[in-house]
Amino acid sequence: MSGYLFQGVTLGENEVSLRVQDGRIARISAAPLDPLPGEQIHQGGRITAPFAEPHVHLDAALLGARAPNKSGTLREGIANWSRLRAELTVEDVRARALETLEMYASHGTLRVRTHVDTGSLLAVETLIDLKTEALERGIELQVVAFPQEGILRAPGRQAQWEAAVALGCDAVGGIPHFERTAEEGWQSVRMAFDLAEKHGVMVDFHCDESDDPGARNLEVVCAETLDRGFAGRVVAGHCTALHSYPNPHAAKVIELVAESGVQVVANPLDNVVLQGRYDSYPRRRGLTRVDELWAAGALVGIGHDSVQDPWYRLGTADMLDPAYMLLHLGQLTSDAEMRRIFFCLSGDNHLAFGGPPELVEGARAQLLWWEDLDPVEILRARPVPLTLR
Ligand code: FE2
Repeated sequence: MSGYLFQGVTLGENEVSLRVQDGRIARISAAPLDPLPGEQIHQGGRITAPFAEPHVHLDAALLGARAPNKSGTLREGIANWSRLRAELTVEDVRARALETLEMYASHGTLRVRTHVDTGSLLAVETLIDLKTEALERGIELQVVAFPQEGILRAPGRQAQWEAAVALGCDAVGGIPHFERTAEEGWQSVRMAFDLAEKHGVMVDFHCDESDDPGARNLEVVCAETLDRGFAGRVVAGHCTALHSYPNPHAAKVIELVAESGVQVVANPLDNVVLQGRYDSYPRRRGLTRVDELWAAGALVGIGHDSVQDPWYRLGTADMLDPAYMLLHLGQLTSDAEMRRIFFCLSGDNHLAFGGPPELVEGARAQLLWWEDLDPVEILRARPVPLTLR
């Protein structure tokens, strides 16, 4: 890597000069630094940590055109995927995953957590094997063992899910709202925690991804997190049913989310398309309650979820896109809210990776440089940052 000098750049709250040499942050100075021969110089703007993607499905990425979702529903997406899954090969999964990871990196995302359907142990193994190569490309990859069709709905699914975790996944997944009954959904949550405890890994659910105001899995995830001391290691993705809860129950659950340290990851691109499909008008937005979660002090992340897959064909792997969608759907358009959304991508989105990398002297120079200083302008224009990895 050649040297870089960022003069008069905003880092956090401070204007500094920052030098990168040999892939490391060599110097951060309040005063301007004299350029060195051959250095690439950038003036002004903002430096942030790289973005993190907390929720995507690399096994299904770039497959959307092969099985278009005619009804637009989650259920048809799952049915189409189950047909495509039977045809997966190692080469195919690997090539699409690498292409998608490079799409992420080209938009400044250097940490990616992928769910992988445990219905294909081939895909699980392929993506676990890919972690080393991804790291060599400057991308940290985590793999979640995700039982797309549940673990209790049919014989054999639990065994495949357990086998996937044993292959070396970073987290145990689950889909409690898709199990046959409410009781089996709650049972699947407890089984996921049991399995995570056994292997010493994290937990990451697709949780209550429905418009059903009676879905009650999120509170069980929070209670198990508290009882088992799992705070900081549990993600609940989607949680769209929270949108439709009666307000008194939503308030209770949101308080529990904050207390438990469970991170709710909103996936606004997919959910605005997939949810509300059983509504006539008014048609619900299908987004979890980000403003109320924030107000209660709960952790929120923003996921892209789909990059041109059977559920949603329009993904770009640019994390500014779900951020842009979230601020619209959630009506999070005050200056403070938009700033919070932008900084979530380089901040709270890193929770599963142990927090964002520190940008200090001596640290590896994995960072983004934005020509524009203003987060609101970045969200509006969605430019491509200079990405050092
Ligand atoms: Fe998902």
